Amino acid sequence: MIDRINLLKAEIDSLRAISREEVEQLRLKYLSKKGLVSALFDDFKSVPAELKREVGALLNELKHASHEKFESLKSDFDTKETSDPAGQDLTRPAVNALPGARHPLSIVRNQIIDIFARIGFTVAEGPEIEDDWHNFSALNFTPDHPARDMQDTFFIASNPDILLRTHTSSVQIRTMESTKPPIRMIFPGRVFRNEAISARAHCIFHQVEGLYIDKHVSFTDLKQTLMYFAKEMFGENTEIRLRPSYFPFTEPSGEMDVSCLICGGVGCNICKHTGWVEILGCGMVDPNALENCGIDSTVYTGFAFGMGIERITMLKYQIKDLRLFFENDVRFLQQFTGAF
Ligand code: PHE
Repeated sequence: MIDRINLLKAEIDSLRAISREEVEQLRLKYLSKKGLVSALFDDFKSVPAELKREVGALLNELKHASHEKFESLKSDFDTKETSDPAGQDLTRPAVNALPGARHPLSIVRNQIIDIFARIGFTVAEGPEIEDDWHNFSALNFTPDHPARDMQDTFFIASNPDILLRTHTSSVQIRTMESTKPPIRMIFPGRVFRNEAISARAHCIFHQVEGLYIDKHVSFTDLKQTLMYFAKEMFGENTEIRLRPSYFPFTEPSGEMDVSCLICGGVGCNICKHTGWVEILGCGMVDPNALENCGIDSTVYTGFAFGMGIERITMLKYQIKDLRLFFENDVRFLQQFTGAF
């Protein structure tokens, strides 16, 4: 309750209005009988007896401060209209802005970039609107692959197909087309899939993919790199395991699990009692994908991997609902103030 009072106080404190009508609308929102301040007074009944004194005093302070705030907002327009027809009163006190916080997805994206930077990976970005070649064909997707289906991909135009990229593997293709190996890069960015929005899925999410191409790159290098990443991201005691999987652009392909951070591998709700949680897809770059980009697959080999930033963030901060990332609710976001 005290938190809610303080939050509302800060919110009202930072209010601005551009017209007298807006001041009145805001006043109704906060101070009318059904307003947000009055709602807190209603909740006062359920405050435990021993806290009533403290909470009561805070509530009265809030009410008083809110009345003053709206008086001052109103009087701004009085002075403006009488003394400043241009509507600019440079003597007005500055708005008391709340401190900002980095979005949790940005915090984790930056951590991922830092971790890979320490072993020599640089960052590249590419367009969110892609053509079929960079998102699918160059990556060895067959013409009838289900991912090309309208159900999964947001197409903007057909024939030639233009779409919202479904993964940042498209940036891997762009990089391989334009850069001579050795290549050691990661590709953070926003991707789009036609998914029904729920606690575990969204039509927009964020990925970081990685690519390493050189002579003699082997699966051992891939595994070692991912183990380094998992320990840096989730802690020294983290274990990894790789399971066989399939992607058109890698061969062999795998999915990587990390030992559950919550229960340490014993089994809990988060890991569905398996002790493991899946965090990324990976594999050795398919020779077809290399050749599609003009890289000689008899000379060069490489590995690639891709992870969802939301998933890593949810694990790290134990966030249960993906939708929180996109709602911009200050009560959620302000918990990350001070974290970088
Ligand atoms: N592009 C894959 C996806 O979006 C992830 C991936 C990247 C898998 C690189 C293997 C290698 O699901």
